[in-house]
Amino acid sequence: MINVIRFVVCLSIAFSLSAANATPDVHSYANSDDFRTAHLALELRADFTERRLIGHVDLRLTRLTPSASALLLDTRDLEVQRVELRAPKRQGLTFSVGARDAILGSPLRIDLPKNEVAEEFVVRIHYRTSPDASGLQWLMPLQTAGKRRPFMYSQSQAIHARSWIPLQDTPQVRFTYEARIKTPTNLLAVMSAENNPAATRNGDYSFSMPQAIPSYLLALAIGDLSFSAIGKRTGVYAEPSVLNSASYEFADVDAMLAACERLFGSYRWGRYDLLILPPSFMWGGMENPRLSFITPTVIAGDRSLVAIIAHELAHSWSGNLVTNDSWESVWLNEGFTTYLERRIVEALYGADRRAMEDMLGMQSLQQDIAELTQKGDGALTKLRVSLQGRDPDDAFSDVPYEKGRFLFGFLELRLGRERLDAFLRGYFDRFAFHSVSTAQFIDYLDAQVLQAPNANLTKAEVLAWIDEPGLPVTAAIPESDAFTKVDTQRDAWLQGKRTAKQLDTQAWNTQQWLRLLKTLPADVTVAQLAELDAAFQFTTTSNTVIAHNWLKSAIRAGYAPAYPRLENYLTSIGRRSLVKELYEELVKTPAGAERARAIYGKARPLYQVPLAAQLDEIVH
Ligand code: BES
Ligand code: ZN
Repeated sequence: MINVIRFVVCLSIAFSLSAANATPDVHSYANSDDFRTAHLALELRADFTERRLIGHVDLRLTRLTPSASALLLDTRDLEVQRVELRAPKRQGLTFSVGARDAILGSPLRIDLPKNEVAEEFVVRIHYRTSPDASGLQWLMPLQTAGKRRPFMYSQSQAIHARSWIPLQDTPQVRFTYEARIKTPTNLLAVMSAENNPAATRNGDYSFSMPQAIPSYLLALAIGDLSFSAIGKRTGVYAEPSVLNSASYEFADVDAMLAACERLFGSYRWGRYDLLILPPSFMWGGMENPRLSFITPTVIAGDRSLVAIIAHELAHSWSGNLVTNDSWESVWLNEGFTTYLERRIVEALYGADRRAMEDMLGMQSLQQDIAELTQKGDGALTKLRVSLQGRDPDDAFSDVPYEKGRFLFGFLELRLGRERLDAFLRGYFDRFAFHSVSTAQFIDYLDAQVLQAPNANLTKAEVLAWIDEPGLPVTAAIPESDAFTKVDTQRDAWLQGKRTAKQLDTQAWNTQQWLRLLKTLPADVTVAQLAELDAAFQFTTTSNTVIAHNWLKSAIRAGYAPAYPRLENYLTSIGRRSLVKELYEELVKTPAGAERARAIYGKARPLYQVPLAAQLDEIVH
């Protein structure tokens, strides 16, 4: 009897962890409730001439539904050549690739031998990727820092892993993996796995990843890479000519890791390294486990943009350890992480700096809410969203990041920091190495916090954040004295009380300069921009984020002296958050649209496949 009860209790715990509240993943064809990948083994050769990965993958699967006889996997633009059963016995398998959906790709259906397939079996798929795989970027030597050797890297989030590996491409499935990657002999391969910085550059690299991860965290990069240690468990990989500046810029990563552990519990992934990619990388950073992929545009020379590192590191808890169970709950990854990021920034650089980042975040959140609402996409200003029939890349905005972050600010206000931190640590422990839906998050919060007699917080208030559009009235609006100073100077200048050169900007940091640029009036004139430029040399700034904001105003006002920099900028940087809005600003006028097309013609080969797809729509 006791055993029966124990069994039922175990079952219900297991059930509540997975199936009970799991949202169906609208972005996967895989029948992952019938079969589940436990382990994945890759064997691939990188062919830079053909721009293909060629080889095979072994999927070790567990059968959950005894009657299931067809395995459905996700693919996009893969050429599947042959499929075989490898274990428990070897046998060829028949398969078919379904019609291609523009968002989801094509389902791969593999027929399993009836009545014979064991509870655990291994399927091998021989395939090669397309030269235009959406999750791979192949760069010619000239597109790298060193200009002498080619480079390739993957970007699997959200649903691009399927373009380089046939698999169950859903964050609801986790697996361990191993890989053997062959490359030209003068290049080094690295993965989101155990890397060996001292590996002999012989073109044959082996990896293993003992912690189970979801598919969107599979990552591979190949290039002329060298390594420099920062701390005992941290370091940076970059092309040789970037290595020194990267080591300087990211020297605080070890302290960030220690701060995050103090706040949220031990780091469970072994090493934490950074990989600095060429400038075509479309993201600021990507939290690939053990090895975050980072844009070189954060190397400002003064460590002023390193909040990105805090962000990608924080994903080691929120996202990689506890994972959103579908892209409709991406706020569970990004909102948690943005809150954790700000806590790390506060721990390392102080409350003033954190308040500045918070205010910049709030401003861009309010802008995104206004824009989405105006476009008729107000439903995307909720935290829990419906993405049926939508590409997660297109639904991307600051809402899951900053609205999510301010939900935790609200919780902190009501619960106090100590109780919120205890809740967060408990959540990371409870759901470690599992996927979580928004419903499960709410249930857990309910059980841990809302039910408590002194909760000081109601479920209705929390649900207003999650399921209502826009910013709830309970949001705590951040304030920053440092920004008040900027605003005072800006207003004195706008009102003609002081010239730009007379402004008191001596001690301003990057965030304060961003505040100035982000709060210039929409109708700022060419003469005003010329005055600012003469005083502060914005057109030639080496800080890419300051330059982005400056160029936006320059386009809006038609400030011609910035055009050469604009062209140079757009043809040398492929980071989405820096370039997309500039094209959007350009196409608002006929002359701008022409300029946009001319520049885009030259720049497009630099951009990553998914970004080019989005810019095609804007520019043409
Ligand atoms: N995981 C994201 C990047 C991402 C999001 C890739 C959605 C694909 C789909 C990463 O952690 C991230 O949020 N990067 C930000 C930087 C961050 C500091 C806000 C980015 O790239 O803008
Ligand atoms: Zn993130």
